[in-house]
This record gives sequence, C-alpha cells and structure tokens, in this order.
Amino acid sequence: MERHEIEELLNKLTLEEKIGMIHGTGIFHTDGVERLDIPPLWMSDGPMGVRRELGDDNWEPKKTTGDFVSYLPSNTALACTWNPRHAKQMGRVLGAEARGRGKDVILAPGINIIRTPLCGRNFEYMSEDPCLTAQMAVPLIIGIQENDTAACVKHFAVNNQETNRLSVNVKVSERALREIYLPGFEAAVTDGKAQTIMGAYNQLRGEFCCQNSYLLWDILRMEWKFDGVVISDWGAVHNTLKAALGGLDIEMSVTNDFDHYYMAEPLCSKVQEKEVDEAVIDEKIRNILNLMDRLSMLGDKRKNRKPGVYNALKHREDIRSCSEEAVVLLKNEENRLPIILEGKKRLAVIGEQADVLHAPGGGSAGIKALYEISPLMGLKMEAGGNIKVEFEPGAGADGVKRAAALAEECEDVIVICGLNHEYDVEGQDRTDIKLPEGQEELISAVLNANDNAVVAVLAGSPVDLESFADRAKAIVYTSYNGMEGGRALARVLLGNVNPSGKLPFTFPICLEDCPAHKLGEFPGGETVVYKEDVFVGYRYFQSEGVKVRYPFGHGLSYTKYQYENLRVEKAGLDFCIKVDVRNSGTRAGLETVQVYVRAAGKTVKRPLMELRAFDKTELEPGESKTLSFCLTQRSFSYYNEELKSFIVPDDEYEVCVGSSVSDIRLRQCIEVSEYEN
Ligand code: BGC
Repeated sequence: MERHEIEELLNKLTLEEKIGMIHGTGIFHTDGVERLDIPPLWMSDGPMGVRRELGDDNWEPKKTTGDFVSYLPSNTALACTWNPRHAKQMGRVLGAEARGRGKDVILAPGINIIRTPLCGRNFEYMSEDPCLTAQMAVPLIIGIQENDTAACVKHFAVNNQETNRLSVNVKVSERALREIYLPGFEAAVTDGKAQTIMGAYNQLRGEFCCQNSYLLWDILRMEWKFDGVVISDWGAVHNTLKAALGGLDIEMSVTNDFDHYYMAEPLCSKVQEKEVDEAVIDEKIRNILNLMDRLSMLGDKRKNRKPGVYNALKHREDIRSCSEEAVVLLKNEENRLPIILEGKKRLAVIGEQADVLHAPGGGSAGIKALYEISPLMGLKMEAGGNIKVEFEPGAGADGVKRAAALAEECEDVIVICGLNHEYDVEGQDRTDIKLPEGQEELISAVLNANDNAVVAVLAGSPVDLESFADRAKAIVYTSYNGMEGGRALARVLLGNVNPSGKLPFTFPICLEDCPAHKLGEFPGGETVVYKEDVFVGYRYFQSEGVKVRYPFGHGLSYTKYQYENLRVEKAGLDFCIKVDVRNSGTRAGLETVQVYVRAAGKTVKRPLMELRAFDKTELEPGESKTLSFCLTQRSFSYYNEELKSFIVPDDEYEVCVGSSVSDIRLRQCIEVSEYEN
C-alpha cells in the first residue's frame, strides 16, 4: 500500500476501533475492523515450533489434532551448529509453519544473552556471546519473514533471569549494555529487519522495559530506525501513560479482562479527556497497518499472501540436517567414539534421560510435536534389528546396581544424562548446576564397571561435568534438539555423522567460577546489578585466567583440521583476514573457524578475547579451503560512555584465528588507527 492509502485507512478509523487494535482482545490476538477489511493480528509462540491452540480468552489447551507441528531445535541447539545457513533454513521452517497455522506474528526468536548457567530460559536463547547471537539471529529472522510472517524478537532487553522476572530492576553499565546485551537486538533490527520486537518483563534502570522510552524510543526508533511494531510481553505493562507515550504499540497480557488492559479503556478515556493526544494512538496504528501491509494482510495484496505450510516432509529433512550439526563432541580419548556396531550383538543404553520426550515442556516454548525421536529410539533406529539395544534407566539404588551390572557385561555402553524442562523452564531459575536426580552417582557406578562407557549430556544450559569429565573417555553434548534430536545424537555416536557442533557457551568448572556469581550479583533482590560488566562468559574466564571445563567455541570432530597461512590485509578502514583450513584426517567433515580480536587494553580494560567473525566450511579428506573474513573498525572498538559511541583507542591489537577461544592456531599483531564513530 502507498503511504497515502495507509493514511486514508487510518483516517477512517474511530478512536474505539484504534484502541481495539493496540491491545489484546484475546490471549493471542488484537481486534481487526471488519467494516474496513482490517483483520485481527494473530500471534503465537514460539521458538521451537508453533504453539498448540489455546482458548481465546483462557489458557486451556484446545482438544484438537490440528495443532501438531514440526519441532525445531531450540535456539541453544541452533547456536551449537555455528551455521547461519541452518539458521536461515530453520527460520524458513518456522515462518512457513506459523503462516500455515494462520498466524501473523511468531513470538520468536529469543536472543537474550546467557549471563548465568542458571537462567531457566537459557535453552530459548543462543549464546553468552553477542557476535554469535547476532550472526545466527539475523538469518533466522530473515528466514521467518520470507513467509509473510513477522518475527517477534524477544525479550528487549536485559531479560537474563527468571527469578523475579516480572519486576527485577537491572542495573547495567551503558558499556555492557552496548557491547554485550544490545548487539543481537541491533543486528536483528538493522540487518534482519525484524518487523516486531517484544518488550521484556523486567525493568532497566528503574523503568519497566515496555514503558522504557530510552529503550523503545531513543535506542530502538531513533538510533536503529526501527519502523515495526513493539509488542509487550504478556502482562509486562504497568502504567497507561508511560506505555502509551513510551513507545509501545501493542499491549498483550495474560488475563481476560481485555477492556481493562492499560492500553484499552483506560487509554481511550485519557484520549477523550485530552490527556493524551490522539496522534499518539495514530502513530501506533500506522506502525500496525504498515506491518499488516508488509505481511500482505490488507487490500489486494491479500490474494497473493503466502499460505505457508506445516508438517511438510521437507521441514523434517531440514530440521534433521540442522540437528545433526548441533551435536558437540566435547572429548574423545582413544577415539572411543564413534561406536562401531559392525559385528557386535549388544549396545547398552543407560539413564532415564534416554527415554524422555521434551517437546511439550519449558513453558511458552513448549509445543505439540508431530513426533519426537528420543535418544533411545534414535539409537534403536540406527542400530537396527540385529543389535540388541538394552536399556536400563538406572533410577534409584537398585537401578544403579542393574546399570553397573549391564555396563560390566557390555562392550559398548552409552550413558545419557542431563536436564529436562523441569529445570530448563520459563519462570524459574535453577539453584545449582549439578546434574540432578542421582545422575552423578549413576555415571560414576557405570564408569567403575566399564571405563569405556561414553557419556552424552542433554541440557539447555551448562551443567557441572566435574564428577566424570576426567574419567569418561568420550563426552558428547546436545541441547533440546528438535524432533530428530535423538536420531541426530545416535548418528553421531554411531559414526554416521561426523560431529561439527561447537559450544555457544562455556562449561565452567563450578558455578562459583561464573562471573555473575563470583563478581556480580545473582539473582539479586528487587534489583540486580551486573557488576561483572562486559566480562560475561568467556570474556571473563579468558581475561581472569579462570580454568574452565570446556571453553566457548569448543567442539571436536572425527577428523583433524589444520589452520595455515594467515593473511591480514588492509582494505580501506577494514581488514580482510584470510586463512587456509585443511582436513588432514580421513573423514569428510565441517569445521567452524573462529576469528577473535585481542586488545591489550592499554588505556581501558578490555576483554582479552572477543569473537568478531566465524565461518563454517565442509572439507573432504585432504581438501583445503581459503576462508575470508572482514573485520571493521567496530571489531576493534569498545563503547566509550563519555563519548557515547564505539571508539578504537590507541592500543595493541592481535587477530587470533582458532578452533575455540582457547585453541588459537594462528595469530598476528596488527596496527589499527584510532577511530571515533
Ligand atoms: C513469555 C513470552 C511469551 C509470552 C506469550 C510470556 O510469559 O515471556 O516469551 O511469548 O508469554 O506466551
């Protein structure tokens, strides 16, 4: 629609009709205006697939078979692939499924930073690092929006814990905000062109995010030029005037007294009483109509709106290839993995976790999966009927005994352990990072019985691996990995897939080592102060020399890669980095090459290492490829609070290329000229 047509439509609307369009009039939709052919706006969770249908004015699940859907890898799993091509493809799947289910806005992706291993919603987020988050979020959003479905990037901003999530007041320095917590959102808006964004529940510096004009006006609209729609988290609004004037477009909530929402009748009265100018409402309607126009929801365009599709066979294939790249091989002594079953008769699978389905759990991210392959099912499917897969859950003292006896008898033993959505869950943080429910004892008993037993950890957050990490010869990690997750894990363990996942966060040795816990404050009380500042995740571990169990970016393969021939060339103000990577082993595989910048921090304290670029490439045995990366001035900069901008100070800089943050293979010092944005 032309701009003037939007204006004409806007001019035809009564105040009451406008008000109906800017607040929830059902749990997941706003009102349309039938007489003008404006449809309601339908939203749905969430990041791992389109949520089941709920009542219109209540949260009761509808009893229907029409809402089974494809179950996508969680965002942590997706981030483990370090593969933006998969992010694009998963976006396409999610967008098509949402549209296929008749939705206009899919409430995804969640891209908050993993500040602490304890956050219950870590599985919905991507990483402790803003560069990885941004580079995966952008193609994901683009993929979603190819389908006439809007992404809703959440939760803006600093929504990094579930404890007191509805009210906690986050105090964070401007520098940490700009360097750590905002870049993912900035990229989502400026590069991903996200059409909607969800304001978070929490407060930033004393004001709720959904009524925070610094976030919603100054940063989002003025700096980043966001021209989409800001939607509140469900029940995140607390004041009519502040929300209406603060930059929020649509208020959603959890109760069914829709007329009493802050931006419903209370706002209508304020406009009638001339306390709020109607132009304020018009601005929101303009944003909403523009969104509808982009989604082909208005006028003639509707005929050509993409119909989407859900549960397509192709979606399952795409999900499967993504989930195969999301499995991370953490350790593989004596080439214990892959397990070769040829000529074998038995395979022991131990641990309740092997037989659990996760799709419905986790809170708003839970879905009704068309199917979900558990690790046990995946192993049985891949092993075939000639192998006896013997399963022992190993629960309780007797179960542990049986598990140990089975492990002693069998040559090949896989223990599957980890968390489930009782722990990785919305609304609640974990209290520690230990494996729950006696799993440490079980693993220990199995390893005592058979020191070749392999351990697979399935969790959406880092867990404490110390009780077995030195003893187990092989360890694999995977997050909630979608409907094909169990098969993907099995194919890695049994060698049909060469693992290529890398960690999107650090596995610390213990919780007390983590910056938010050691230096900072977690979970805080009414207020939480991010005292660790920019030293989040590996930025802290590296800078302070704190030993970790598995570093950020770590992930092994069944083959070996050599890094050679680093070249750094100046290209105007930018630097072009080239490096050759060669598969020197005997299996084809994929390697993610990571480029970190290291600033000595002569004038201002800087994290020792910061990820600035990465690329994943496929290599046949013996094959070598040249990968190129571009580093801009921003790659060397830090945020200067006085100047209110990113600057490159006089300092010593080094470009470090490696296979993880602590496995740097090549490095080169470079001269970067001072720069002010
Ligand atoms: C969550 C959001 C979700 C919304 C709607 C809220 O509680 O924080 O992520 O999209 O509910 O279900």
